[in-house]
Amino acid sequence: MDLALETRKPADARADVLVLGRYADDRRPPAEITAVDRALDGLLTRALASEKFEGKPGQISYVHTGGKLPAERVLVVGLGPHRRDGRSRGDAEPVRRAAAAAVRRARDLGAASIAVFMPPDGLSPRDRAQAVVEGAWLGTYRFEKYLKEKNSKAVRSLTLLEPDRRSAAGAREGLRLGRIWAEATCLTRDLVNEPANVVTPTFLAGRAGEIAKEGGLTLKVLERDDCATMGMGAYIGVAQGSQEPPKFIHLTYKPKGRARRRVVIIGKGITFDSGGLDLKTADGMLRMKDDMAGAAAVLGLFQALPRLKPRVEVHGLIAATENMPSGTAQRPGDIVRAMNGLTVEIGNTDAEGRLTLADALSYAVKHIEPDEMIDMATLTGAVVIALGQGVSGLMASSDGLAARVLGAADVAGERTWRLPLHDEYKDGLKSDVADLNNISSQRGAGAIVAALFMREFTGGVPWAHLDIAGTAFTERELPLGPKGGTGVTVRTLLAYVAALDGRR
Ligand code: BES
Ligand code: ZN
Ligand code: ZN
Repeated sequence: MDLALETRKPADARADVLVLGRYADDRRPPAEITAVDRALDGLLTRALASEKFEGKPGQISYVHTGGKLPAERVLVVGLGPHRRDGRSRGDAEPVRRAAAAAVRRARDLGAASIAVFMPPDGLSPRDRAQAVVEGAWLGTYRFEKYLKEKNSKAVRSLTLLEPDRRSAAGAREGLRLGRIWAEATCLTRDLVNEPANVVTPTFLAGRAGEIAKEGGLTLKVLERDDCATMGMGAYIGVAQGSQEPPKFIHLTYKPKGRARRRVVIIGKGITFDSGGLDLKTADGMLRMKDDMAGAAAVLGLFQALPRLKPRVEVHGLIAATENMPSGTAQRPGDIVRAMNGLTVEIGNTDAEGRLTLADALSYAVKHIEPDEMIDMATLTGAVVIALGQGVSGLMASSDGLAARVLGAADVAGERTWRLPLHDEYKDGLKSDVADLNNISSQRGAGAIVAALFMREFTGGVPWAHLDIAGTAFTERELPLGPKGGTGVTVRTLLAYVAALDGRR
């Protein structure tokens, strides 16, 4: 999709479909929309009235212009209310969602060229433009690689209308950012949607290699023997049941000048989670190709970083492996030693994510010495019970870091809620024969318990953990995308890095 900015008024815009956003609580439409209506002899007002258009989120009405305007059709999309206590909230999410709904509908009507005008609100021209692009791009995403009959309807060009010339520079920057953020998210979606017979640890390492080459990044891939030599017994134990060789992936982005911060971003990279010898049920296993969604988010982030050039040093880690049952698989009751020296009794081979992440965290602490670390993991069914499929769980050892991650999630419009790392729940992780058990002997709070296990490997470095088991994959269409991988946390991470860079 080509992106362009025009300082034209909507009434002068040439496109197959002209999209106009309308807030529910703006009493009068903005002058730009009134001008369109006037050119259409009031047709738009009459159509909206007869269809009881109220500006509800995602509500859509459209008319043919019959040659009265350069645009062939005018489509009005609701943005919902934007004021609270008389002031605009300046929230980008309604703009993203409206752009997604409108562009999707315009595409289905056969439009190849679309022009969008969103009325001024509490957002800066840059943020508004970025939100439009993210919405349009993410909302029209499809994964059709394996279909014989692909959808032939596609949008070729999207033009953002920003009639005020003073807003043009900001809006242009917003277009650029929106495209980078959305493309990174779609890279992550693609990787999650690909099946596990394609996306193996070797495939992930190869993709990391392409991303490193494109962006001039450093890549180190550790093989099974390297990891064993370095003492990653927890990670290697998970990998030992699979025919697919594990790959420990370490990507590095370094800014040109002095970095303001050094951070590590870790993604859970189980390319298929059968549960191991503690085998999952058929139903439980069905979606487990998505158990590398955290890893996919790391790769999405690293595709974007060289294009954005933040003054932050970022390390990306993925301890990639399958979790399979076999004659060589790890047994319940086995004891492994993690890189930081702690021994772990395997209470359940299906609690494998925390084992791989334990060694990734230990590696980060020992070899990277970061200022702070964030991991993303499809870690527990428990977080889905606690927060459902619409909200990611955040657990953190540092209040400051937690606040910044929540702030970044808010900028991205990715719903995230903090859960407490209640110390007493750690008692359940005691083992009679090892320093820790990988599952708790007590019931409940499974997401928190998993995080408490991982905290033992963070060496006191400020750390935040995002449990995305509920949000990484969707079984129904969402406002910003179809069924399948969502690409969740990519934009949160980009907002987090942008904030560290201090340019946002
Ligand atoms: N990958 C799963 C978690 C998961 C569950 C992700 C549902 C997405 C949807 C993880 O490895 C796992 O199996 N966790 C177990 C832990 C248990 C054995 C302590 C779980 O949550 O049931
Ligand atoms: Zn598992
Ligand atoms: Zn898993």
